[in-house]
Amino acid sequence: MHCTVLIALVASILAGPIDFESDLKHNVDLGRLQKDLASLEERLTNTPDVEAEISLLKEAYEKTVIESPTPINGSTCKDEDINEINEKAGEEKDLFEGDVLLTTEQLSLIENIHSSNRSRRQALSDAGYSWGTVNPVIPYSYSAGYAMDRRPTIEAAMKFWEKYTCVRFKPATSGYRVEVRESAGCSSYVGKIDDRKGTQGLNLGQNCMSIGTICHELSHTFGFFHVQSRFDRDRYVDIDFNNILSGDKHNFDLEPADKTTLRDIPYEFGSNMHYYHKDFARDESKPAIYAKPAYKVYQEGMMGRLPTFYDILGVNKHFNCAANCKSSISCSNGGIQDVNNCSKCLCPLGWAGDKCTQAPRESNTRLSTTSSRYFMHNTDQFSQVFKYIVKMILIKAPAGMKVQMTPKVLGTRWSNSCDPMGIEIKFLKDARPSGLQVCDWRVQQPTITSETNEMLVQAYTLGDQSVVEMQYKAVN
Ligand SMILES: *[C@@H]1O[C@H](CO)[C@@H](O)[C@H](O)[C@H]1NC(C)=O
Ligand SMILES: *[C@@H]1O[C@H](CO)[C@@H](O)[C@H](O)[C@H]1NC(C)=O
Ligand SMILES: *[C@@H]1O[C@H](CO)[C@@H](O)[C@H](O)[C@H]1NC(C)=O
Repeated sequence: MHCTVLIALVASILAGPIDFESDLKHNVDLGRLQKDLASLEERLTNTPDVEAEISLLKEAYEKTVIESPTPINGSTCKDEDINEINEKAGEEKDLFEGDVLLTTEQLSLIENIHSSNRSRRQALSDAGYSWGTVNPVIPYSYSAGYAMDRRPTIEAAMKFWEKYTCVRFKPATSGYRVEVRESAGCSSYVGKIDDRKGTQGLNLGQNCMSIGTICHELSHTFGFFHVQSRFDRDRYVDIDFNNILSGDKHNFDLEPADKTTLRDIPYEFGSNMHYYHKDFARDESKPAIYAKPAYKVYQEGMMGRLPTFYDILGVNKHFNCAANCKSSISCSNGGIQDVNNCSKCLCPLGWAGDKCTQAPRESNTRLSTTSSRYFMHNTDQFSQVFKYIVKMILIKAPAGMKVQMTPKVLGTRWSNSCDPMGIEIKFLKDARPSGLQVCDWRVQQPTITSETNEMLVQAYTLGDQSVVEMQYKAVN
């Protein structure tokens, strides 16, 4: 829940939630689900090598924790992310991977994936859980009495996906559809589950009202699982099962290589579909997910506030949106053809223009040859729930040099997830991967060196006070 956003309290109490479990029972055998999730847990253990690596990573992490952090101007406020909301709501025990609703059929597929019975193995994506390809239309409705004042936020998230992909949402009152339901938590089925049953639930309680959270749940509705469940995740992260309660471990299940497709999308820590590093942590002062040593700069940068360029590309591939464009155009700086207007490109953050050749208009260029400090202070109040205030700063070193920067987030909100405020630092030459997103003022952030002579910083806030201090210099 966003600290400063108190929405729809009265309306949702009046409407009252649909009983969560009785609704699920239509689609899944709950007893079997809970038994299966428990048996998945037994399979999740680390090798001694990984345990040894985790010990070192834990030690290094502890050194980054600031002893008595003092936020700017006193008052602090904790936001919750999807997994925390669902844990508090008591809904988590019926959910897979934290916020995924399964059908009995999908549960069988997952059971079979983990059993040695190859004859029954089948990819989840083959099982008819598809909304179609090339301009799929997803009909939706709201359950009776669903809070009116939450609907604009939900529709803004739908518009986000419509703007960047070929997916379309259509209000419907009959026929098979996604029904947005009152709930204590945030959860969705994966893909289109069964069109004989009238509706499939998309549970969005009042604490789920951020664009990023709704976009995340909609990704599940499209047919996506989480990034940290990808079969290649052990190359990027270590899961500290010792810091996860038994009963929560199944949320770190690993999808089998032959059953899911990565759609040629690289592993991305900052994806909107990646867990935050402290999700399901028993001791919240330490991570449950460690970035492996080669990626340690990303330790604080898991779970993007919004779908990233790669998340968008993944959805476009999933629905074969590119088939909308009869002829292709070339895009610079990693851009892709815009499936909603084939005569221009869709650019990664940091680039603009029809061919992605222009730097973003709002950026300021700062030359740095000696160490400089830059404070960003934002006291603006936001007017709409889904309205981020964004600032772009381009830090440029002389040609042939690199930018070295240490960010410091000075408060006042903190969260599992960088949803309410933070900065994203783009430091790679390749513009496509999301930048490093940081937001926690209670830990020392890493020093980052750009691959080129430029570093782009995007600072964002949902309002409130957010202050960032960046110390940077040009290095060889
Ligand atoms: C702290 O609050 C005061 C008064 O509201 C304001 O003038 C000042 O700029 C704030 N400082 C920071 C660093 O946010
Ligand atoms: C394996 O799958 C086949 C086909 O569904 C089924 O008939 C058989 O009973 C399964 N064997 C085991 C050991 O589960
Ligand atoms: C598509 O993009 C081009 C190039 O930016 C622009 O001129 C044109 O108006 C756009 N078409 C539509 C329908 O938005």
